[in-house]
Amino acid sequence: MSASVPLRAALADALTEDGTLADPEWRRAAATVPRHLFVGSYFEQVPGSVPTRYRPVHQGDAGWLRGVYTDRTLITQLDGRTRPDDVARGTAVVGSPSSSSTLPSLVLRMWQRLDVQPGQRVLEIGTGTGYSTALGAHCLGDDSLTSVEYDPVVGAAAASAIKAAGYAPRLITGDGLRGDPGGGAYDRLIATCSVRYIPVPWLHQVKPGGKLLVTLSGWSYASGLALLTVTGPGAAAGRFLTGYTSFMPARPHDRPPRPALVLLPGEERPTGMDPAIIGTWTGSWVAQLAAPSAERMGAGSEQILWDVSTGSQSRTASRADGGWTVVQRGPVRLWDQVETAVQTWQGLGAPHQEDFGITVSAARQRVWIGAEDGPGWDLPI
Ligand SMILES: C[S@@+](CC[C@H](N)C(=O)[O-])C[C@H]1O[C@@H](n2cnc3c(N)ncnc32)[C@H](O)[C@@H]1O
Repeated sequence: MSASVPLRAALADALTEDGTLADPEWRRAAATVPRHLFVGSYFEQVPGSVPTRYRPVHQGDAGWLRGVYTDRTLITQLDGRTRPDDVARGTAVVGSPSSSSTLPSLVLRMWQRLDVQPGQRVLEIGTGTGYSTALGAHCLGDDSLTSVEYDPVVGAAAASAIKAAGYAPRLITGDGLRGDPGGGAYDRLIATCSVRYIPVPWLHQVKPGGKLLVTLSGWSYASGLALLTVTGPGAAAGRFLTGYTSFMPARPHDRPPRPALVLLPGEERPTGMDPAIIGTWTGSWVAQLAAPSAERMGAGSEQILWDVSTGSQSRTASRADGGWTVVQRGPVRLWDQVETAVQTWQGLGAPHQEDFGITVSAARQRVWIGAEDGPGWDLPI
C-alpha cells in the first residue's frame, strides 16, 4: 500500500470530524484524490522572517509527504517564475506567492458551498496545481468541469498531474478573467484566485439563476468570500460568507509595480479613531472599500495608505497623550475616506463580512452592509 493512503485517509477523517466534510461524496473525493501527485515540491515560510523568506521542501525530503497531507496551503511558485525545485536545499528566498495548492479544507468547503447539481456545468478559474480541479472532476465528472489557468508552466504541470491521477476535465490556459474563450452557458463558477471586481464575461457566461463563488480582494489584500446568483445577463447579487478566506489575486487584478515608499510631508490633523482598527480582518476590508486604489502598509496605530496613481498618501501615528494624528497629502484624502467608512461600519456594530452583500449591474458593482439600500461602496470597475 502506498504510504500516502493512510495519510490521505487521516486527513479526510480529520476534515469529517471538524465538520468540513458534511457531504459523503466530497468525503470520498478527499480520501481518493492523491494530493502528492499535484503538489510535488513546495515552499515553506521561514518562521519569523521579515520580509517573509521561503525555503523549498523537495519531493522526497523527510517530512515532505506528511506536509502534503496536512491541511495547509502549499506554495508552489513565487513571483510568477520561481519553483521550489529551482532553489537549492538549505537556501531561502524572498518572493511573492503566485501559485499554490490551497488548503484542502477551504477547497472542499467551497466545492460543497457551490451546491452543484448532477449534470450542471462548472467553470473553475485558477487551476493551480490541479488538486481542486481533480476533486471537482472526481465528484462531478470530467464532462461537467472546465478549468482555466493563466500561467502556461503551471497549467502544463497541472494537466500532467490531473492525467496521472486518472481525470480528464477540460483544461484551458489563458486569462480566466475573460471566462471560457469559447463562450459557454455555465451553471456555476468557482474562483480560486481573488478579484477586485466581478469580471463582466463571468456574468454573461453563467446562466441566469446560476451561481458564482468568488473572493473579492484589492490592493490592500483584504478579502471576503461571496456567493452571488446571476439575476440576468450582466447582473448578479449575493452575500459574503462567514469565515476568513483569502486567495492570491488574479494576476491582471494585482496591484501594479511601484517604487520604494518615500513618505512626504503633508497636512496634519488629529484623528479620533484608533488607526489599528484598519489592521483587523473586517476593518482592513472596510478601509479597502473606501480607498480602493490605495495600498495599506504599517502596523498597529502606525498605518500608511499610499495611492501611487495620484501620489496621495496618509500616515497615522500615536501621540504621547494617547490620541492619534494623521498626515495627508495629495488630491485624494485617503484617511478622510477611510475614517468616514470605518465610523459608518462601527456605527452598525462593526459586523463581520457575513453581514455584507454585493449587487452587480452593467454600470456599477456595489458592496453594502446589511441591506441593498444600506451604506455601501462602489468597487473600482
Ligand atoms: C491559489 S492558486 C489555485 C489553487 C488551485 N485551485 C489548487 O487547488 O491547487 C491560484 C492560481 O490562479 C492562477 N491565476 C491567477 N490569475 C489568473 C487568471 N487571470 N486566470 C486564470 N488563473 C489565474 C494562478 O496562476 C494560480 O495558479
